[in-house]
Amino acid sequence: MKPIRSLCLSAILLLLFSNSIHAQTEKTLITPAQDAKWWKKAVVYQIYPRSFKDSDGDGIGDIKGIISKLDYVKSLGIDAVWLNPIYASPNDDNGYDISNYREIMKDFGTMADFDLLLKEMHKRGIKLIMDLVVNHSSDEHEWFQQARSSRDNKYRDYYHWWPAEKGKPPYRWSFFDVNSEAWKYEAQTNSYYLHYFSRKQPDLNWENPKLRNEVYDIMRFWLDKGIDGFRMDAFQFASKDTTWPELPKGYEKDIIKYYGVGPHLHDYLQEMNREVFSKYNIMTVAEGAGSSPADAMKFVDPARKELDIAYHFESVDIGNSLLEFGLNKYKAIFSKYDTEFKDKGWLAIFMANHDQPRMVSKFGNDTPQFRAISSKMLSTFVMTMRGTPFYFNGDELGMVNIRFDNIVDYNDVDTRNKYEQIKNAGGDLKAYLENKKQTSRENGRTPFQWDATANAGFTTGKPWLKVNPNYTTLNEAEQEKDPNSVLHYFRKLAQLRKDNTALVYGNYALIDPENPSVFAYTRTLNSKTILVVLNFTAQEVAYKTTLKMAKSRLLLGNYPISKNKESQTLRPFEAKIIAIQQ
Ligand code: GLC
Repeated sequence: MKPIRSLCLSAILLLLFSNSIHAQTEKTLITPAQDAKWWKKAVVYQIYPRSFKDSDGDGIGDIKGIISKLDYVKSLGIDAVWLNPIYASPNDDNGYDISNYREIMKDFGTMADFDLLLKEMHKRGIKLIMDLVVNHSSDEHEWFQQARSSRDNKYRDYYHWWPAEKGKPPYRWSFFDVNSEAWKYEAQTNSYYLHYFSRKQPDLNWENPKLRNEVYDIMRFWLDKGIDGFRMDAFQFASKDTTWPELPKGYEKDIIKYYGVGPHLHDYLQEMNREVFSKYNIMTVAEGAGSSPADAMKFVDPARKELDIAYHFESVDIGNSLLEFGLNKYKAIFSKYDTEFKDKGWLAIFMANHDQPRMVSKFGNDTPQFRAISSKMLSTFVMTMRGTPFYFNGDELGMVNIRFDNIVDYNDVDTRNKYEQIKNAGGDLKAYLENKKQTSRENGRTPFQWDATANAGFTTGKPWLKVNPNYTTLNEAEQEKDPNSVLHYFRKLAQLRKDNTALVYGNYALIDPENPSVFAYTRTLNSKTILVVLNFTAQEVAYKTTLKMAKSRLLLGNYPISKNKESQTLRPFEAKIIAIQQ
């Protein structure tokens, strides 16, 4: 008996010892570029406040509503929340048109509510990232009200103007304007002002150091409250070529190339970092980062001291559906960016946000048969690709596009103004509306589906945007009860990522780049390799990897384990995360 017992003990000791060696080696071998910044390990959950939870029955989500759901948010296993703008705003573009950067939008509550939100989040160990919208303000901001009043007003140079006596300004395309024109004439000073977005969103003049310092003060105001970072809205457009050259015909198709990364953008970011970011332990993320991996790197190369995380649009600007775009082209985008970011810099990984249709409707299959399984597969991708996952609220339930039939159901300035444009040009409105069912960003903004009570438990009043009628069966309460739900699967993924540093820091390697149905890759950190296999189609596909799988172990999958362990068939939208022993 004795020798056996001591043998067991030595085995246990050996196991413990080798584990600790392993843990140590893993730590030691993480290169400086993979240093333990909290935001690299984090999962960021995006809350769209207007649609999350209404506490006072006015039909609009609010801060108190978010507070009431923080235990749910915490239960997801996420680390940080990115909150869309909650500042004072006339809401031409749902809060992306700010009239006072130091006040809370009345619809959302008060500054006291905000302070409580931050406190309650921090109490639960959740960090808060705020949206910072400073490429433009609202036309109702005091600065613009003053600026438009006379040519010699002290705020005049906070914006871009073109005096009408010089003739018409050079054509600039606007993302949201009914006429597509970004210069708007003002009789009061006989001048045009610039607005890349709607005419109620005049662009701020970053050339002006006074404006820049005002913005830095605003940033300090929020950072001194203790928030944990900023998402820099549309900031790649902040620097303009103020020689205002004519641009080639049709340039708007390639808008980022022409509007993104203007001549002084990186100077501004470096100044901002010196003046503000470097003084706080925060995370900063760029919305949009030029038009190539090399462009994106410039925003977040640590040596340049600008921002921390870049998110680019190439992986969402793929047209109406992934099926049409082609999986191999999609894979190539991630591989291309990962190659550039292999040793330094950091990316955000996302498939949806408030500017996109629902993740499952665009990249998966939202029919009743495949909605849940394909949602789980897509979540597997977002949580295992190299970068920080940015995950949009409602996707953890597999919420789907609402597909409005009628323009009056839309509130979005973009969707409505493009409709007007087509109408004025005598275009095909029916085709436009049909296309918007798949592509409009409003699809992602419908109220969060909490339960099967009226209005999905989002509000006791009339919701500002229609609730998806499928809420009676697709809702959080139902999914809490079902251990196989999309929601519970998301929680498992979040935990798995926490338990496996290889999923955070591990190198990414694409396998079988030519397979048109399967996205498979490994994540390797030191001696640990994790294989991720994702069937992006609604068909069964035969799949056999060339990797040695003898000692492999399934860490998580979205189907029950196949009885046939050697099975080389992937079921529709099957996802597997497998630990491989090399
Ligand atoms: C960003 C926001 C979007 C907004 C636009 C103008 O792209 O994400 O919602 O409409 O900027 O601020």
